[in-house]
Amino acid sequence: SLLEPALISLAYLLGSVPTALLVCNSMGIADPRQQGSGNPGATNVLRIGNPVAAALTFLGDSGKGALAVSLAIITDQPPGITGLCALAAVLGHLFPMFGAYRGGKGIATFFGCMLLLSWPLLLIQLSCWLILAGTTRIASLASVVMALITPLLAWWLTPELLSPLALIALLLIARHRLNLLRLFQGQESRF
Ligand code: G3P
Repeated sequence: SLLEPALISLAYLLGSVPTALLVCNSMGIADPRQQGSGNPGATNVLRIGNPVAAALTFLGDSGKGALAVSLAIITDQPPGITGLCALAAVLGHLFPMFGAYRGGKGIATFFGCMLLLSWPLLLIQLSCWLILAGTTRIASLASVVMALITPLLAWWLTPELLSPLALIALLLIARHRLNLLRLFQGQESRF
């Protein structure tokens, strides 16, 4: 049927909504693509803006992921399609199709997807992220480790979603390659 491709395309379009740009624009904060790490995401909005703007960015970016997956769930899609919707939402955030907008790094969007895919898995991912970010003050380190353990957690808790979740994890790590380079050089910026 046409429903599956429609859901996947919609997930991609939802993922490409540039929350950080909308929030910064409306709150009079500088363009996050020109400041700090240059990343349009909650971490960098916190770095260059304020906690409220960062929270709104996180809520918007995770919300669009949750919404994309919820559409698949309420239409009773099998795990394969639901997982593809999550992948499409993250891809939309990483590689948005419209405007000169450069995509973000996908962490908040992935968390939003996970809320509806498996909240127990999300709970472990979030704990991992919060503990590492809290102790090191380096968001990218927390993000990469969270992505690294995701395939293992999926294999354990949601084997039916192993392929899309492992693929998303791989994309997230690849998207953090410059962060990884800075981490290894001891030059990664903190919050
Ligand atoms: O969630 C994004 C985070 O992992 C890295 O952000 O701005 O430090 O590159 P940033």
